[in-house]
Amino acid sequence: MPLPQPALIPQPQRCTVLEGAAFTLTKDTVIHASGALAPSAQQLASRLRAGTGWALPVVADPAPGAGGGSRIEFRLAPPALPGPEAYNLQVDATRVTITASAPAGAFYAGQTFLQLLPPAIFDIFPRAELKWTAPAVAIEDAPRFRWRGVMIDSARLFQTTGYLKRFIDVMAQHKLNVLHWHLVDDQGWRIEIKKYPRLTEVGGKRRETVRGHRINLLGGDGVPVEGYYTQEEIRDLVAYAAARHIQILPEIEMPGHAQAAVAAYPELGILPQAREVSCMWGIHETLFNTKPATFAFLQDVLTEVIALFPFEYLHIGGDEAVKKQWKEDPATQAHMKALGLPDEEHLQSWFIRQIEAFLQTQGRRMVGWDEILEGGLAKSATVMSWRGIEGAIAAAKLGNDAIMCPNPFVYFDYFQSGSPDHEPLSIGGNLPLAKVHSYEPIPAELTPGQAGCIVGVQGQLWTEYTPTANRLDYMAFPRTCALAEVAWCPRERPAFPDFLGRLRTHLRRLDVQDVRYRAPLEYLPAPDGAGTLNA
Ligand code: ACM
Repeated sequence: MPLPQPALIPQPQRCTVLEGAAFTLTKDTVIHASGALAPSAQQLASRLRAGTGWALPVVADPAPGAGGGSRIEFRLAPPALPGPEAYNLQVDATRVTITASAPAGAFYAGQTFLQLLPPAIFDIFPRAELKWTAPAVAIEDAPRFRWRGVMIDSARLFQTTGYLKRFIDVMAQHKLNVLHWHLVDDQGWRIEIKKYPRLTEVGGKRRETVRGHRINLLGGDGVPVEGYYTQEEIRDLVAYAAARHIQILPEIEMPGHAQAAVAAYPELGILPQAREVSCMWGIHETLFNTKPATFAFLQDVLTEVIALFPFEYLHIGGDEAVKKQWKEDPATQAHMKALGLPDEEHLQSWFIRQIEAFLQTQGRRMVGWDEILEGGLAKSATVMSWRGIEGAIAAAKLGNDAIMCPNPFVYFDYFQSGSPDHEPLSIGGNLPLAKVHSYEPIPAELTPGQAGCIVGVQGQLWTEYTPTANRLDYMAFPRTCALAEVAWCPRERPAFPDFLGRLRTHLRRLDVQDVRYRAPLEYLPAPDGAGTLNA
């Protein structure tokens, strides 16, 4: 009889279940760590305390026999697989041994260990009445991709920082490491910029929100939406994420998706009278103008953003900038001609290069949606390929880095089945769980050298049609669990049925954290005579 495999997500590269007795965590267990790995040990101790109620000590040199011999030991040494995120995790009857060459690997070993314990370890209440055992295993693990991201749109749905912290916790449990934060858009500006208070005073408020799907033209709901994150809240969130080995990538949109900014400061736009912060979804016409004062504004904004976010990357949007206003504006046309540019696509490319040059002086690497390829790609830019995979292929062929965000596979605002009448409203599409799990991020067209430009994969949570945090959970999970497997596991990852088997236990981990995921019912055998859903 093969030993039962633990239900780990993402599945580690190598996991051997051992014959020996299980490890039992007790209130006397000692955590042994020092130096660079001590913070990772503290993180594990704090999660164990939340789940069990026991404040297990983290000590550099435990006394002989401390903990009755039961201990969790962190060792700073090279694990079997290379890289700072790699780790070994060995569990036997009395000892858990974590080996890593860097804090990230030790942190991920801790996350895997938590998944070896009963799911209730993740409960929002401590469960001191339970028995905490983990099977004896030997695990050697490392990620496939270095960029394992999720994007959250806080412009359309303004989430609380409490929600975002819980989301970060769950991301960390899935070994995801980049939270791409979409902070500004036509429908709201959500980041405090001290030099320009009207961005949040005016740009952070919308009068109401369109009801239902925008194509049905049902009018507005009459309910004002307002809110923004203060710089203090942002610093706190960035630190919270960093402690969990998650970097936050801020996105400041330009030259399109600028209506909230232009509503606040009409002189940044084209029209003599600015439009209000938008109450409607869809692509908007409002663009920033190309005047020197507008670049000065953008540099000021980015300077404050850079001071808040230590991540070496910064996202400047670049998507869906329809050129109508630039085409119709004599001043913009004159500027374009003076620059010797043939069309508005080249003007956008010029715009983005100005910003890229500024970011370079600040030591930051620019990320943009794949429209930044149009009219010529900035040399050091990283491209997020969202309108399919062509943007990434083009970028990689130019030697630029790319992140795979293609809408057919990782747009989590799409319906989760082919039966919209069984699903909450969404923007459209059909992205069932199995399709996310099937996704192979390296395009077949690329040579091995070009494939090295694909730095990772990212799921997108646009929030036009997720009016509540619960609805956002529903769209995010369990598709984000499948994404984690795509991002972490080697190309030859376990098949979807194997993932589903592990997901049964994994969903219990989400239950105890109040994550309101979508139950993947269509993958369960239907009782005789029951209807089936069309996945
Ligand atoms: C996008 O979905 N507009 C990047």
